Amino acid sequence: MTENDFVSSRYIENQIEGTVTWKSPSNIALVKYWGKKENQIPANPSISFTLYHCATTTTLAYVKRNKEQQQERFSFDLLFEGSPKPEFKPKIGKFFERVEKYIPFVKDYHFSIDTSNSFPHSSGIASSASGMSALALCLMSVEKALNEKITNDYFNQKASFLARLGSGSACRSIEGEMVVWGQNEDVKEASDLYGVKLSQEIHSVFKNYQDTILLVDKGQKQVSSTVGHDLMHGHPFAEMRFKQAETNLSKLIKILQNGDQKGFIELVESEALTLHAMMMTSLPYFILMKPHTLQIINKIWEYRSATGSNLCFTLDAGANVHLLYPENEKDTVLTFIKNELVAYCENGQYICDQIGLGAELIKN
Ligand code: DP6
Repeated sequence: MTENDFVSSRYIENQIEGTVTWKSPSNIALVKYWGKKENQIPANPSISFTLYHCATTTTLAYVKRNKEQQQERFSFDLLFEGSPKPEFKPKIGKFFERVEKYIPFVKDYHFSIDTSNSFPHSSGIASSASGMSALALCLMSVEKALNEKITNDYFNQKASFLARLGSGSACRSIEGEMVVWGQNEDVKEASDLYGVKLSQEIHSVFKNYQDTILLVDKGQKQVSSTVGHDLMHGHPFAEMRFKQAETNLSKLIKILQNGDQKGFIELVESEALTLHAMMMTSLPYFILMKPHTLQIINKIWEYRSATGSNLCFTLDAGANVHLLYPENEKDTVLTFIKNELVAYCENGQYICDQIGLGAELIKN
């Protein structure tokens, strides 16, 4: 598929209004996307677990605009958790600009967007992946109402393509259980333009993997992901890092097939620390981990050497820690979290999640 395959041309004209609701999950990368080219093209391939509980639910109501009303390029209003949220509007306006070429109907309708997250507001959990994918799916449902011929495969692919234009990692939130984004040698169908579900059969130990998110710092991040990606331009280690991500993706796909949990732990933790090492070696440099992030990491390492557990951690672009572990360790790891790690969480908060199957159509 090329970009032109996602340009819509012919629509039926008589669709006046409608409403659709999608629930779309967040995802956590195992091999990280950090660094991009023009038009949201990733500098390296990445792979993620799709989450289950951490999700955004978005209802999109659309009604045809009168030609005379069309002084503004786009017309929409936005409710976030039931209240107007003017500070989110520029991001959505920019998203509409980026997707207009592919879904020209965006300027023909007025949209009312009503969105809410399953995770606590300002938990420090990035909502851009679940938020942008939920909105992209709603827009694809509008496209489907205007062109009934589109297939399910095309629907998902284009939803991922549109979500990517909103936020890169959002393209990995449409399907589950694992999604690859970015061209690479090992997953032939993978593309820089959209995420694809990992079709290789994965070993049973990685089925139903758990992700408990320790909320270390719920404050606003000092540096946004978008700024961080930008700092990879001219970064002294960028080229090596992009190659390393490709090699790690290849290794991880083998690990996922052969069930090598020790290999999984080493690769996933190394990816998390490399992501933060890139931030620390950017110019300007910055640190998103907090003292409690490091204390948790050290506790995990002690716990692992004392018990032989397969618990490991990963990080996104923030201070929170994702604890990844197999389902059969659920009880013991939760006891460890309660006894040893909750003390490092802001207000003792953490979220129990697990691998999920992707977005869900709630109402159409
Ligand atoms: C560290 O997808 O948030 O979570 O494309 O600028 O919206 P934009 O960036 P974003 O970056 C996510 C970076 C990451 C790693 C990952 O999810 O792969």
